[in-house]
Amino acid sequence: MIQRLLPPRLEAAVSFVRPHSVTADVGTDHGLLATALIQRGICPHVWASDLRKGPLSRAQKRVEELGLQQQIDLCLCPGLEKLPLEDIGDVVIAGMGPEVIASILQDALPGLTSRHRLILQPMAKPEILRLWLAEHGFRLVAERLCRDSGKLYAVLVAEPGQMPIPSAAECLTGILTQGDPLLKDWCAKESARLRREAAGLEKGGLTEKAAQLRALAQTVEAKGEAAR
Ligand SMILES: C[S@@+](CC[C@H](N)C(=O)[O-])C[C@H]1O[C@@H](n2cnc3c(N)ncnc32)[C@H](O)[C@@H]1O
Repeated sequence: MIQRLLPPRLEAAVSFVRPHSVTADVGTDHGLLATALIQRGICPHVWASDLRKGPLSRAQKRVEELGLQQQIDLCLCPGLEKLPLEDIGDVVIAGMGPEVIASILQDALPGLTSRHRLILQPMAKPEILRLWLAEHGFRLVAERLCRDSGKLYAVLVAEPGQMPIPSAAECLTGILTQGDPLLKDWCAKESARLRREAAGLEKGGLTEKAAQLRALAQTVEAKGEAAR
């Protein structure tokens, strides 16, 4: 089978996987990321998990078609529950909501050590994960914004360590996103969202909260204007 180009959000995630690292692909679904990591020679072995039988059998079909059964282990389980974290280096969790990603990490927390790198691609609200990471003993080592089918996404890369708790504006715009070619567009999207929320609050009479959101929108806009 010909190697497929991945959607931009998965290409961005793959670009942060450390070469030679045994990697977990949590929520593998179609198995595109897991198989690409092997086909491209980035990883010697991948552990791919999914909560549901249907998606996991899709991944299994792809793995078998490509003859990669020796290099990819498939696991029907929530998150990292049945994966051997002690053998794994990089953990990719892509294509899920930030709350689900945080809860997968929360459950795996006792087994996550300095050997692990987290590569996270939430479908929305990465600010939830930036805060979660800072509050749970992780530091961001890289971030990238990407556009996929017209929508903007953030990919966060974190390792165990300390970082200061980010401000609300940093959570929204990223901590390591300076110089990202999409930062200006990202800030425009986020400030528009904040202003819409503020308008809704204003209508409901919550003027103080609305003013706070508008002030945050202004900070985000200023960061966007400063971006190249
Ligand atoms: C939208 S798909 C994303 C697939 C792929 N990772 C991607 O980014 O294209 C989300 C997948 O995650 C699985 N999933 C959701 N919650 C999960 C959990 N707690 N543990 C493992 N898999 C989960 C779903 O069954 C589904 O197959």
